[in-house]
Amino acid sequence: MEKFKAFRLTEVDKKITANFESCDLDALDPGEVVVRVAYSDVNYKDALAATGKGRILQRASCIGGIDFSGTVVSSSDARFTKGDAVLATGYDLGVKHHGGYAEYARVPADWLVKMPAGLTLWEAMALGTAGFTAGMAIVRMEQNGLTPASGKVIVSGATGGVGSIAVDALSRLGYHVVALTGKESETAYLQGLGAKEVMLRQSIDLSKIRPLDKALWAGAVDNLGGDVLAWMLSGMQLCGSVASIGLAASMNLPTTVAPFILRGVNLLGIDSVNCPMPLRQEVWRRLASDMRPAHLKTMAHTVAFDQLPTVFADIIDAKAKGRTVIDIAA
Ligand SMILES: NC(=O)c1ccc[n+]([C@@H]2O[C@H](COP(=O)([O-])OP(=O)(O)OC[C@H]3O[C@@H](n4cnc5c(N)ncnc54)[C@H](OP(=O)(O)O)[C@@H]3O)[C@@H](O)[C@H]2O)c1
Repeated sequence: MEKFKAFRLTEVDKKITANFESCDLDALDPGEVVVRVAYSDVNYKDALAATGKGRILQRASCIGGIDFSGTVVSSSDARFTKGDAVLATGYDLGVKHHGGYAEYARVPADWLVKMPAGLTLWEAMALGTAGFTAGMAIVRMEQNGLTPASGKVIVSGATGGVGSIAVDALSRLGYHVVALTGKESETAYLQGLGAKEVMLRQSIDLSKIRPLDKALWAGAVDNLGGDVLAWMLSGMQLCGSVASIGLAASMNLPTTVAPFILRGVNLLGIDSVNCPMPLRQEVWRRLASDMRPAHLKTMAHTVAFDQLPTVFADIIDAKAKGRTVIDIAA
């Protein structure tokens, strides 16, 4: 096979350098399946890894990209055959195993999901880890009793990748969605995705969070952590569910046990990386059917592979909106 292009992250003196290189198949990590990558994407974690703002890499040098979609070129595992459309998110991709920022990927068959009916290679990466995580949060809240009749569902970091897809998918399912954002200028964008209400983070007094406050939310999807997650917990209805996804604001959680022991609130941890395969397949099936976001083309923009290095800074600076798909073949 000819040489192909890859975007490699390397740690030198505790700093990350990120460069395109010419690679061959022998340089890829072991795995039963070789995939011609069509699209990858950029998640918060990819931006942390590529800029060195977070300690993401678990080896000295790794081809980046925690997600990819593409077509199977060869497989020594009977579950996959040449020509299958597949996607992969999470596991060790782009962290400990060469990832999706390359024209070819070689991965264990256990990490691959066959493309669900109705989803294109581009749509799979417009969703990517962000969409999968939003979908997983919704499924986990539903498993804990949430229905559209339960009441309002609030989504923090609403203009981000996970947030945008959560707003859209929940609206699609008939939920009354309240989008919580720091960007007043994006009110129309969030309403366009289906948010019934848009709430500004600046309008909340996070210096005075009571252990329990007025019960407003039946469900909550949190991308920020810290005070915002504590505030959401204090405002949950009886037996409400909060899906804790992210730490865009803080790793801390300054709360009390009151929401749990006095209102039976469920705090659901969402780990998209290690999600077991049966739940993983179920979430992707839902994302391709009843939960399918209606506005993927509005919220996702496509960037050519050679422009990849230009997209990370805006994500770290919280200026990015929606999703970034990387066209690996372009
Ligand atoms: N648990 C998992 O498996 C999993 C999977 C995917 C992502 N995550 C995590 O989930 C979070 C969101 O990921 P993403 O891909 O959606 O990221 P993203 O596209 O960068 O969106 C994050 C959003 O959070 C808000 N925000 C960012 N920095 C903030 C700050 N310092 N203070 C308050 N708000 C801030 C902004 O939205 P507004 O301006 O609209 O408020 C921003 O658009 C990240 O922490 C990511 O690491 C976890």
